[in-house]
Amino acid sequence: LGKNVIHREVTSSTQIIAHNAAKEHKGHGTIVIADEQTSGRGRMNRDWHSKKGDGMWMSMILQPSLPPYLAPQLTLLTAVALAETIEELTGLTPSIKWPNDILFDNEKKCAGILTELQAEQDQIQYVIIGVGLNINQESKDWPEEVQQRATSLQIETGKQWSIKQIMQHFLKHFEILYDTYMQQGFLAVKTKWEAYGFKMGERITIRQLDRHRQAVFYGLADDGALLIKNDNGSVERLYSGEIDWFHK
Ligand code: BTN
Repeated sequence: LGKNVIHREVTSSTQIIAHNAAKEHKGHGTIVIADEQTSGRGRMNRDWHSKKGDGMWMSMILQPSLPPYLAPQLTLLTAVALAETIEELTGLTPSIKWPNDILFDNEKKCAGILTELQAEQDQIQYVIIGVGLNINQESKDWPEEVQQRATSLQIETGKQWSIKQIMQHFLKHFEILYDTYMQQGFLAVKTKWEAYGFKMGERITIRQLDRHRQAVFYGLADDGALLIKNDNGSVERLYSGEIDWFHK
């Protein structure tokens, strides 16, 4: 991983560069990094602020021989690698909000993951995993509404960080987890994910499209789905949606 690196000072989105690279058969393990993205994107078509020198904006091309329905497990795995990296370097323990937002104790978000899949029938052609980690921003760098729910490593620790160093640590953690996952399956990842799980065992609000519902968050199912217990006692697995936070 990372032996083939495509670096851009400025680009629209590393996701787009990575898709193009994958189509040109730049293979498994290629990573695309940018110092600045002019139209960084998040999940659910949201914008992702990604100015120069502020954070780690990276997309990884993976070609695992897995069926497409297992791709979300790779996203959960990536979140664990990010949480481990942050913990190792800063000493702060972040949590992971299902499926893959990284939050601190103040419930502000410092990182997100966007997974995009190209599949044919029962086989993944390639997966692009986009990782955005806020590193050296200060609150005032963001618009008011973003300040409410975003944070960076600098804000949390009071010091500036080397993006390159963080990237190297992240790639190391990712590689170890990825190998474990490919050899042993999802269980090892699930246990680690749950140790970081945000609001595990607590009552949460889940948003699916425009519908809100409340339930108790039990943990992950064996396949990575969100396991919840409804008020009527029924246990359910959810494969899409988000845990609401801040928009309570
Ligand atoms: C989210 O939390 O909604 C996911 C954010 C993902 C942002 C990263 S930054 C690198 C890559 N390029 C993008 O345009 N998005 C992802």
